[in-house]
Amino acid sequence: MRITDTSDLWWKNAVVYCLDVETFMDWNSDGIGDLEGLAQRLDHLADLGITCLWLMPFYPTAGRDDGYDITDYYAVDPRLGTLGDLVEMIRTANDRGMRVIADLVVNHTSDQHPWFQSAKASKDSPYRDFYVWREDQPPDTSGQVVFPDAEEGIWTHSPETDAWYLHRFYAEQPDLDVTNPRVRDEIAKIMGFWLQLGLAGFRVDAVPFLLETAGVDEDSAAHFPDPHEYLRALRAFLGRRTGSGVLLGEVNLPFEQQAEFFGGQDGDELTMQFDFNTMQQMYLSLARCDAGPLAASLAARPEISPDSQWGTFVRNHDELTLDKLGDDERAEVFAAFGPEEEMQVYDRGLIRRLPPMLAGDPRRVRMVYSLLFSLPGTPVLFYGEEIGMGEDLSAGSRLSVRTPMQRTSGANGGFSDAAAEELTRPVVDGGFAPEFVNVADQRRDPDSLLSFMKLLIRRYRESPELGWGGFQLLEQPHAAVLAHLCTWDDGALVAVHNLGAEPLSVPLTVPGCGAGHRLEDLLTAGGAQLADDGSVELALEGYGYRWLRVVTEDSRRIL
Ligand code: GLC
Ligand code: CA
Repeated sequence: MRITDTSDLWWKNAVVYCLDVETFMDWNSDGIGDLEGLAQRLDHLADLGITCLWLMPFYPTAGRDDGYDITDYYAVDPRLGTLGDLVEMIRTANDRGMRVIADLVVNHTSDQHPWFQSAKASKDSPYRDFYVWREDQPPDTSGQVVFPDAEEGIWTHSPETDAWYLHRFYAEQPDLDVTNPRVRDEIAKIMGFWLQLGLAGFRVDAVPFLLETAGVDEDSAAHFPDPHEYLRALRAFLGRRTGSGVLLGEVNLPFEQQAEFFGGQDGDELTMQFDFNTMQQMYLSLARCDAGPLAASLAARPEISPDSQWGTFVRNHDELTLDKLGDDERAEVFAAFGPEEEMQVYDRGLIRRLPPMLAGDPRRVRMVYSLLFSLPGTPVLFYGEEIGMGEDLSAGSRLSVRTPMQRTSGANGGFSDAAAEELTRPVVDGGFAPEFVNVADQRRDPDSLLSFMKLLIRRYRESPELGWGGFQLLEQPHAAVLAHLCTWDDGALVAVHNLGAEPLSVPLTVPGCGAGHRLEDLLTAGGAQLADDGSVELALEGYGYRWLRVVTEDSRRIL
């Protein structure tokens, strides 16, 4: 096993951590998180074992979509700091062994962006064709909106020129027209700018919408016949500028289409994509205490190039979307984890974090994160997951999970020295308040969730089987159990997870192994000897989990 390969395609076994500078740590006491505050808390992330930070948008914004409506692509939101603060922070992160990527939000600008301000004022504006316009009354497009609570269609009338402009998201987020070569040049320039400042790539926002040309007039669309060619061009550009930069794409589509967004077997489009399908099936599995849906999703993943990678996750910064489940299935997950209407949004998702959904049951929470880190792929955490933060339902919609990071049991959870009413967002109260859930206490407690997360991350990083390897489901008789094997060269790891509350004994056979092999527990002391035919019986507690390295007498793998 060439362990040295793992430093090359670094994203194959990275641990990614998403955070919003605005809610992470306030250093100048104005109630708003800032880049200096983040720099001051990088050591927490390094200690946790994070290898790549993903920064949510930190650019100047009109504040309609929490930063996803940008008014200047070449600057930092002054509330968060300066370009200088960003560069200092990136350097410090790099020193602590962490790369930094950031959101690239170029499907749309804010309607306050100077390009749109100019474009909407006159049909003769040099920026008019940066956006997508139509002169005639649009048909009913209410079925195509992303935010059904706020928008009735994807075209909005602009009185200045008596025309309609396209927007997939809020009306305040007009879509850019990527069939326009000048727009594409700008996108490359934006990427080049941030790469030059030290970013290691991008989380690419809303990729299918970015590439979509429906609505664009036929002439322009004819000049842009293959959107995937454009994605290949972006990836090639990134490669030329950085060598090892990544595009981590948001593509919430069925697997077959995701395969195309990877560039198929060539792997020359998105480097990574979130596995939205497996995430959703995992929640169905958790709701049913039946590993079947999760197992089926993992088995249905398309083959991808060895350079490509799935981003696995339990929770992200948006609603927990369940749009890929059937109506009945979604209803099951709602009933189990978000029965109140105030916990649901857009008829498709939940606005809660995992621990409250699992009624705070520590066994179950740990089992889910053990699962996350043992699934084939690269795990992506959302800030606060490492300590089991809860949500603020009263914040509403997506903001409910974007509350201030809880650092201490003190005032404002140690996020800021400002008065509580000056905070950019209130701190969570109730059973998941900082008094009960915070970094400082958990750092000192070997039995805390934080300590457990560190262990998972260390073992994940030491086990390239998980990020790099082949994946196989192992047959065993219990519906509640997921048993899988990850292999890479001569390395192999068996993981077993019990989604149910009952203790179980799991008989299984490790293919290609026999009496010369042992299983060594990686998360605790323990192990098991395999029989001649590779069979073994593994005990699992209710909501239990085990990671077991397959070793031989002369094995030299780390134990
Ligand atoms: C993505 C982001 C989401 C944002 C939307 C529009 O889905 O994850 O937060 O609202 O794009 O930019
Ligand atoms: Ca501040």
